[in-house]
Amino acid sequence: MALREIRLYPDPILKTPCTAVQELDGEVDALVQDLIDTMLESGHSVGVAAPQIGVPRRVVVVDVSKSKLGKNQNHGLLVLINPEIMESHGGKTMREGCMSVPDYTGNVSRPESIVLQFLDREGKQRVIQTEGFEAVAIQHELDHLDGLLFLDRVSSLKTDVFRRKS
Ligand code: NI
Repeated sequence: MALREIRLYPDPILKTPCTAVQELDGEVDALVQDLIDTMLESGHSVGVAAPQIGVPRRVVVVDVSKSKLGKNQNHGLLVLINPEIMESHGGKTMREGCMSVPDYTGNVSRPESIVLQFLDREGKQRVIQTEGFEAVAIQHELDHLDGLLFLDRVSSLKTDVFRRKS
């Protein structure tokens, strides 16, 4: 177990498309554990993607079960390896934040429900359907794997990005 430092915008690794995992070896398992530890340690994070801790591979963890918005509808702790959105429906705008962009939040429009395929920590292929806050959190983390931040998704940097009150 290890707590890893979160890379902050404009670190170039956050702009780097990540490579798929070919084999679920001990290195990938250790990466998964580091992501979980780093997410839990932050106390408020609902997801972390591998590039945020400096590893450009297609692995993220998401857990919205302890958050106000996600506690009523979630799949608990999700380990998503090589995740892929198979279907998406609807649209919804929500305020998003990111550990790599600590001083700002932004209004982002995304599909409201998704069907997601991925490998879990044991390497089993799974398909889930999810909506609402969990779907938003997953899509936000998947964006990190393609080198995208919420700042790339807002309609206007002038009117849809807000400085956090500290
Ligand atoms: Ni993020």
